Order: sequence, then C-alpha cells, then structure tokens
Amino acid sequence: MKIISGIQPSGELHIGNYLGAIKNWIKLQNNSKNECMFFIADYHSITENYDPKRKPEEILNLAADLLALGIDPKKSVIFQQSKIPGHADLAWIFNTLVKIPELERMTQFKDKAVMQKENINMGLFDYPVLMAADILIYKADAVPVGEDQTQHLELARDIARRFNNNFGPTFPEPKSLLTETPRIMSLTDPTKKMSKSHGEKSYIALSDSPEIISDKIKSAVSDAGGGKDKRGGDNLLAIFESFAETKEEKNEYSNYKREHTNGKLKYSEFKPRLAELISDYFVDYRQRRSELSKNSEFVKKVLENGAETASAAAGKTMSEVRRKIGLEI
Ligand code: ADP
Ligand code: TRP
Repeated sequence: MKIISGIQPSGELHIGNYLGAIKNWIKLQNNSKNECMFFIADYHSITENYDPKRKPEEILNLAADLLALGIDPKKSVIFQQSKIPGHADLAWIFNTLVKIPELERMTQFKDKAVMQKENINMGLFDYPVLMAADILIYKADAVPVGEDQTQHLELARDIARRFNNNFGPTFPEPKSLLTETPRIMSLTDPTKKMSKSHGEKSYIALSDSPEIISDKIKSAVSDAGGGKDKRGGDNLLAIFESFAETKEEKNEYSNYKREHTNGKLKYSEFKPRLAELISDYFVDYRQRRSELSKNSEFVKKVLENGAETASAAAGKTMSEVRRKIGLEI
C-alpha cells in the first residue's frame, strides 16, 4: 500500500498526535509491503498566526521528534512540504474542481475561524484542497490520521473522483486509517479533543518531564456529576490502555477498568500509576531526542534526501496532470 501523512510544525507534539497518528505511521512503515511518505506540513501551518523567526526551529524540531519516535529514513521518505512545488501547483488545479460551499462546511475551518477571527485567510479556507493535493500527488491509497481529519479525507476522495471523471482515470481514492484511539480528549475538558490550542494543562507533550506529566495527570478532570459523567475517567483509561504494552500492564488496565465501571476506581492510586506508565513509555524517545538536538545537520540531511525522492514522484504526476487537463502544448 502507498501511505502518506503529514503533520504541521506548530507547537509541540502531544500524546493525542502520537496515539491518533504517529504510532500508526511507525507500525505501517515497519510492514515492508508498504511504501510510506511522511511530511512536515509547513504550508498548512502558515494559515495560522505564527512567528516567522521561530518557524525554522519548529520544522527542525518536528523532524527530530519523528526520527526520535522511530520514523526511519531507511524505510520512509521524510520531507518538508514547501520544498515540493507540485503540492501547491496541484492544489491550484484542484481549486477549479471544488465549490465554495463544500469548503464552508468543513468543521475544522469553522472551528479555526472562531479561534482566529481577525485572520480568516484564504489559506485557512483552502487548507483541505492543499491537503488533497498532498495526498493525490503521490497517488496514495491510505492516509493514517486522527478522526478530526476524516472530513478532509472525504473531500480528497471527492476530488479524485471528479478529476478521474472529467479527465480520465488518474488518482486512486485514498482511505483514512484510524487507530483504536482516533480521538484522545483534553485533560481539562473531556468534551473537547486534546489539542495544542486549549492550553498547556489540557495536553501531555511528548517532551514533558515525568514531574510535569505527574502534575498534569493529577489535575486532569476525572468523573463528574457525582460519578454520573464518566467521560473524563473513560479518557484517562483509554490513555492507560494505549500505553499498556506488557501482559502485566494489560492486566492492570483490566482491573482499573472494572473498578471504574463499578464506580470504585481510586484515582489517588490510578493517576500516579498512569503518569508513570506514560513517562516510562517515552524514556527511549527522550534519550534519542536529546541526541538528535545536537545533530541538526543530520536532521536537515534527512529532509533534503526525502525531498529529492518526493520531488521525482510529484514531478511525474504533475506532467501527467498538466497533459490531461490540456495545458501541454
Ligand atoms: P492539534 O490539533 O494539536 O493542532 P494537529 O492538527 O497538528 O494537532 O494533528 C496532527 C495529527 O494528530 C493529525 O493526524 C490529527 O488527526 C492527530 N490528532 C490531533 N489531535 C488528536 C487527538 N486529540 N486525538 C487523536 N488524534 C489527534
Ligand atoms: N491537516 C493535517 C493535520 O492538521 C496535516 C496534513 C496536511 C495532512 N496535509 C496532509 C495529513 C495530508 C495527512 C495527509 O493534522
């Protein structure tokens, strides 16, 4: 299978990103039947308010994070979106296949428009079309993402179908690949998804120290309404389950789960154990990440090599597309 996914270089990675997407990237890359491409969606990230002085660092940090988590340049192509001009070229062509009301319906656009009222720019509106171009330019079959991206994937399939109908069979219709935890909820408000945009206490960053993880879990919302509303506890249990790898940890999970169902879960025991489980899970990552932070030349080289491979594939599709839509004279 041809697999592609991207992630924006804006702020630090959190366990929602990891459990919803990146964990799956690693699993897919380690199956030799797959051809995987993963990229840093820097063009997408400039649709939000940002500081141009900090962006280069955010791009490099994210690339180092992916490498430290186990994305392997020997198995996957890793690159920076803006280095491949075909993405934006193809998005322009796709713009002529998409109607304005389709983009007005996008829930992520509506949510972000509320959060950045003073900067509802065309890029933010067109974001899903660029995303379709990111995917289709490599003729990918499957896209591992969190649940919040499935509406964008639907649009990518619509665009592929329309293009194929108008200009002849060209693109496969890409499906989304979700993990068992496609939507981790915020620690401070379990009705919202965990996200960088809801304040530091609402998420656990992969770079958080064991002390910070412990503090954040301690203050996480658990069951509310005298135990009637179990969404907070359910979310914490889902996080525990995702990080439980050994047989013992899985048994622990089953016990906690049963206690929670019976209304007998002691958060004073469960929460410190959950914090410990999360920080232990990322021990290797923290070690590799700190080594990579001393070696930004290596990280840059990985991105350069990746761009070369991606560029060749993208260029091929763009020639085919230009010919099919009648621009080749
Ligand atoms: P954020 O919402 O924090 O800005 P991104 O939009 O950069 O995160 O998301 C990057 C990837 O992580 C996407 O595939 C997205 O679907 C996934 N993701 C983000 N938040 C969550 C979450 N709370 N639960 C599961 N997956 C998530
Ligand atoms: N929109 C995605 C997010 O916020 C990032 C992204 C951009 C992406 N282009 C993509 C994901 C193409 C998968 C495929 O998480």
